[in-house]
Amino acid sequence: MQSFYRTGRSQRGGIIAADGQTNVLETPRLTLRRLNMNDLDDLALIYRDPDVRRYFPEGTLSYEETREELEWIIDVYYDRFGFGLWATIHKETGAFIGRCGLLPWTIDIGEDGAISEHPLEPPAPEVEVAYLVAKDHWRRGLGTEAAQAIVDYGFEELHLPRLICLIDPANRASARVAENIGMTLERDMELDAEPTSLYSISSERALELRRSRAPARDT
Ligand SMILES: CC(C)(COP(=O)(O)OP(=O)(O)OC[C@H]1O[C@@H](n2cnc3c(N)ncnc32)[C@H](O)[C@@H]1OP(=O)(O)O)[C@@H](O)C(=O)NCCC(=O)NCCS
Repeated sequence: MQSFYRTGRSQRGGIIAADGQTNVLETPRLTLRRLNMNDLDDLALIYRDPDVRRYFPEGTLSYEETREELEWIIDVYYDRFGFGLWATIHKETGAFIGRCGLLPWTIDIGEDGAISEHPLEPPAPEVEVAYLVAKDHWRRGLGTEAAQAIVDYGFEELHLPRLICLIDPANRASARVAENIGMTLERDMELDAEPTSLYSISSERALELRRSRAPARDT
């Protein structure tokens, strides 16, 4: 299926949908590329770590559950949306150290709390910047490095109007990453009966931050 979202770069260079790419992003220390079923062992190893999965309501995932998630990412997100979670590869060692990327969401906010769903077709009402790194790579700035590149991709290539993060209020590391990429706390709420902090950033705000980050040009 052709992707709804097309990248700006692809449009300039001829019409190739975002889903034609294998390597999606590169940062100084990381390559983000499309996941494939050969990543199942590596991903399952990370997903069975209770520290890594501490703030996910469903907790650790079994090998079979990881397979199901991987199939969903490939069949639904890549094929229909053209984006999703991407394998996060440490360039220096070639190691698979996590999965980071963009997740489509539908979030209905009601009086008694909010309910989330995974939309099956684009356009997604909300798109989340999602990051998860293996424990032995924490606290080296890699989560922030991946997340910043994903934010830039979401705005510059996919032209999304805004990006969000959905975070367990106790997950300080995740909140710090969200703040590092320019997001601010929009609201605290009950999402699917779990306390959740909704962080967000608009494309306009991201552009301002990008301009302030860019080195001043000589005139
Ligand atoms: C969230 C996560 C990706 C951060 O990765 P990371 O590579 O350690 O992040 P960084 O090194 O860029 O650190 C970002 C900030 O968080 C802080 N931080 C990292 N781990 C922390 C922890 N356990 N407790 C408190 N702060 C922490 C860092 O000190 C840094 O703060 P600073 O910007 O003020 O210096 C990682 O902890 C992780 O994979 N956690 C499990 C999965 C998860 O919860 N994902 C988020 C779901 S919403």
